[in-house]
Amino acid sequence: MNILLTGGLGYIGSHVAVVLTEAGHQVTILDNLCNCKIEVLDRLEKILGRAPAFFKGDVRDQALVESILKEKQINSVIHFAGLKAVGESVQEPLMYYDNNVGGTISLLKAMKNCEIKTIVFSSSASVYGIPVYLPYDEEHPTRPQSPYGKSKLQVEEILKDLSDSDPEWKVVALRYFNPVGAHDSGLIGEDPAGVPNNLIPYVAQVAIGKLEKLKIFGDDYDTPNGTGVRDYIHVMDLAEGHNSALLYVSENTGFSVFNLGTGNGYSVYEVVDAFTSASSRKIPYEIVDRRGGDIASYYANAQKAKKFLGWSAKRGLLQMCIDAWKWAVLH
Ligand code: NAD
Ligand code: UD1
Repeated sequence: MNILLTGGLGYIGSHVAVVLTEAGHQVTILDNLCNCKIEVLDRLEKILGRAPAFFKGDVRDQALVESILKEKQINSVIHFAGLKAVGESVQEPLMYYDNNVGGTISLLKAMKNCEIKTIVFSSSASVYGIPVYLPYDEEHPTRPQSPYGKSKLQVEEILKDLSDSDPEWKVVALRYFNPVGAHDSGLIGEDPAGVPNNLIPYVAQVAIGKLEKLKIFGDDYDTPNGTGVRDYIHVMDLAEGHNSALLYVSENTGFSVFNLGTGNGYSVYEVVDAFTSASSRKIPYEIVDRRGGDIASYYANAQKAKKFLGWSAKRGLLQMCIDAWKWAVLH
């Protein structure tokens, strides 16, 4: 199949580009480079032996998207392009709604004009909000707490309305949990600008000596050891989930939503222990106040993806840390 990856030079999209190319698909990437580096394209060429087709541009440029859809005879789109920093979305909500919601509307209009009606959308576990019960299944109420999470839910609603309006649309929204780790070549991975917000990129920089110590945001949560619990998922497992979702979506009309998580929760202390084993480095840490807006614990019920996509995550926490460490050392 000919597949367009919007935002395909970013962290998740670049790993999906590897998996889909290796599965025999023709991958085309559209990215405006607002949160990635063009070097990722060379790195993809090193891994794959050839670079995917690439267009530099914005998903909100409807004419450009239509020209790419036609020129590359695209069958399906995977829509990663968007902004993802929760804190920034609180400061700059218009920027988030414009890019994430406006960008998707523009993309969908281009697809409709070209009669391409198959799309996989990158949604997020942040659509669920404060847990009413755990693990979150796909029926859990959706009450996102930030403009970022709301933008993801709004897009899901638009996609649902669109597929209700025209039964030819084939739409899947994937709600990612906490993607971590990197391709085992160490050539691509997560490359946050400045000081990382997320736990594993921060821990990696402590292990390598760029940052002095980890600040653990609270050890008095109602969790087994008091630190926050999350469902970390290896980015290659997540990428493989997109291949399964693509097969599913090409055979099923309508709108479906799937959690992509492992179903296991790990605490901050467990992450520190696993990263210490993976890197053979000490990870100094101190306990500080809770981070505003943090939830004690959340993790996925991953049964629906297993049942309908035939997909489940295979790599454990140690593997996630080994690959995150390799990436941190090599890049
Ligand atoms: P990322 O920032 O690494 O990748 C997004 C890519 O989209 C970047 O390369 C960026 O340059 C590009 N982009 C952004 N706006 C664009 C636009 N208007 N036009 C063209 N390109 C644009 O992020 P990621 O971690 O790879 O996330 C991919 C998607 O998955 C995002 O939609 C994100 O919200 C979602 N998601 C990510 C996580 C996570 O923890 N990484 C969790 C849940 C959901
Ligand atoms: C954050 C985002 C979420 C996004 C996810 C992607 C917020 C509020 N939420 O969630 O939308 O989908 O990243 O992976 O930003 N921790 C520390 N010290 C640190 C960093 C984190 O103790 O320096 C703790 C946190 O308190 C939390 C755990 O580590 O318990 C994981 O944090 P993080 O990696 O930021 O992920 P989320 O909070 O799940």
